[in-house]
Amino acid sequence: MDLDDEESLRFFASLRMTNELLFENSFKTFDLSGITSYHISVNTSRAPKLALFPLAAEVNNQEHLVIGGCDVVDLAREFGTPLYLFDESTLRHRCREFKDEFCKHYPDTLVIYASKAFLNRALALIFKEEGPGLDVVSGGELSIAHSVDFPLDKVYFHGNNKTLEELNLALDLGVGRIVVDNFYELELLNKLVGEREINQKILLRLTPGVDPHTHQYTTTGTIESKFGFPRATGQAEEAVTQALSASNLNLLGFHFHLGSSVSEVQPYELAMELLLRFAQEMSRKFGFNLSELDIGGGFAVPYTLDSKVPTVADYAGALTGKLNSLISGLGLSRPRLIIEPGRAIVGQSGVALYKVGAIKEIPGIKKYVCVDGGISDNIRPALYGAKYEALVANKALGVGREVVTIAGKLCQSGDILVRDINLASVHPGDIIAIPVCGAYSIPMSSNYNAMPRPAIVIVKEGRGRLIRRRETYQDLMSLDLI
Ligand code: LLP
Repeated sequence: MDLDDEESLRFFASLRMTNELLFENSFKTFDLSGITSYHISVNTSRAPKLALFPLAAEVNNQEHLVIGGCDVVDLAREFGTPLYLFDESTLRHRCREFKDEFCKHYPDTLVIYASKAFLNRALALIFKEEGPGLDVVSGGELSIAHSVDFPLDKVYFHGNNKTLEELNLALDLGVGRIVVDNFYELELLNKLVGEREINQKILLRLTPGVDPHTHQYTTTGTIESKFGFPRATGQAEEAVTQALSASNLNLLGFHFHLGSSVSEVQPYELAMELLLRFAQEMSRKFGFNLSELDIGGGFAVPYTLDSKVPTVADYAGALTGKLNSLISGLGLSRPRLIIEPGRAIVGQSGVALYKVGAIKEIPGIKKYVCVDGGISDNIRPALYGAKYEALVANKALGVGREVVTIAGKLCQSGDILVRDINLASVHPGDIIAIPVCGAYSIPMSSNYNAMPRPAIVIVKEGRGRLIRRRETYQDLMSLDLI
């Protein structure tokens, strides 16, 4: 039977089809086990946008979106909105996928999760169980990791202006690697470890001079970047000589990070080649042995149904293939490979839920659907022009009938979450779900307009657990003194 009408989609939902089954193939023929073998082709152009939601997202027979076995409309009722959900299975799955895919081709790979994408204590515990290391970039992120007894030898401390206090904290706690960014830090760190009479393992962050073709605000691999020692100016070589002559610093290797949402593999390949050639030169000149090569994060994820980005397996296959051939071509010994995915681990796991309030129609011009959050919890659309999809979570099978713009409630006309999107007919009180909100929304949230930050719930096997309570008005004033 051909399922190309709404009725058929309802039939599908009642069978509790998962997103993988329903949406990963445009037209797929399959058997329904337990039912006499029907051959069904699904026209996904009529289907809702579940493919971007966490793995195994589904629609129940009330037509509500279900994540991690939880009806999200119930969660919105129980915990209030705006609400951020994280699906634990998706999070764990991505950690394993990165490890498995990279180690398959390059066994000595260490995955370190870039905490800046989102870290709190509950997530840090999950990462501790799953086994990746952590990239931290501040005393705050380091303290969160420390608070759950995260193994600090697997922590890499980044940042272009680590303060004296932060460096001292890192040394007190014994972080595994400090990724030194500039000459000031190299000198300061050398002095601190000298005073303590300890030895600290470091990497040098190098700027390869490679354009990753991403948003200019998240481009870091080009020569004018504020991060790292540029290779082309000779400063990288100078940093190597200084680090090698610092008796308490143990230079293990190099780090680069090209940028974020890098949807091509060629920039990584070029940067690896430049850095490995540089390492070879340093080996010839100074006998330096590269034991770690950290190629940063930046792996893109799809935010919209039409985005085309490599899968984790694509990135892993291409990058390790290039690395293997460079190593044998240049006759180098094998360094440990370190990767630092942030967005690609946590992005798809997160879903933002909002409640619809005012609906404003400007006849013939625009229809605004206003929700109870906005740039205070997700500044990405306003800051980077980031695009998202959305779904009416309590009408998850509803067919898009009109084009609307989802606006936030903050006092700024740029407070638009999603422009011109086709949604099922929306009314006040409906719940809007926005997928792929797990990375860089909460960490970049603010109290603009004195908005309390949202609550965060982690879902797993039909249970929603609060992992950060909603801020209260009292919280907002708790640091004020009069
Ligand atoms: N390693 C380093 C040194 C980084 O600076 C970053 C991100 C990562 C790893 C992780 O990158 P990812 O895999 O998540 O792309 N606020 C922006 C993203 C800024 C990324 C900053 N650095 C956004 O919302 O898109």
